[in-house]
Amino acid sequence: MGTKEQWEALSAECAGCRACPLSQTRTKLVFGVGNPESEVLLIGEGPGEQEDLQGVPFVGPAGKLLDQMLEMIDLDRSRVYIANVVKCRPPRNRDPQPNEQQACRHWLDRQIALIDPKIIVCLGRIAGTAIIREDFRITREHGQWFDLGGRRVMATYHPSALLRDLSKRPEAFMDLRALRKEIREICTRTY
Ligand code: URA
Repeated sequence: MGTKEQWEALSAECAGCRACPLSQTRTKLVFGVGNPESEVLLIGEGPGEQEDLQGVPFVGPAGKLLDQMLEMIDLDRSRVYIANVVKCRPPRNRDPQPNEQQACRHWLDRQIALIDPKIIVCLGRIAGTAIIREDFRITREHGQWFDLGGRRVMATYHPSALLRDLSKRPEAFMDLRALRKEIREICTRTY
């Protein structure tokens, strides 16, 4: 789970990152939020407008829905950790480019190493392709579990997609139920 000192050192180092063009246009870098001792890590795509202003992941409209999704399975931000594939907002919320994802990747990998989660949930296609497989298909493969480096990994729809397309919500709810079941089966520390 990493020591307080390790987390402080990592977030301080990350705050000074200028490795890709997104660092030129950001207001605030968005490092991560939640419980670093959690066994469950959620990974989103990248900050949007509100996140960029506040420096906290998932605080805009998609974040409100994410909070409701967590509540449905008796979770909240104090029981998971939430990070993004890229730490700085892509202009006009476009997809983060491969070079930007690559430049940012070591921060996420270091967060994963410190947390050492048993379960990773990718929120949406970008996180799925970054973490599970380059050609990961969210519509076909959401809700499926993958074993990656000793962790259980699943992707579900991004809350922004669920805001745009209500018809995806029942499928996302099934994914959340599968997540709750997996947590009950394999998590020991905080559940
Ligand atoms: N969407 C994301 O993927 N991450 C955030 O932090 C906010 C919106």
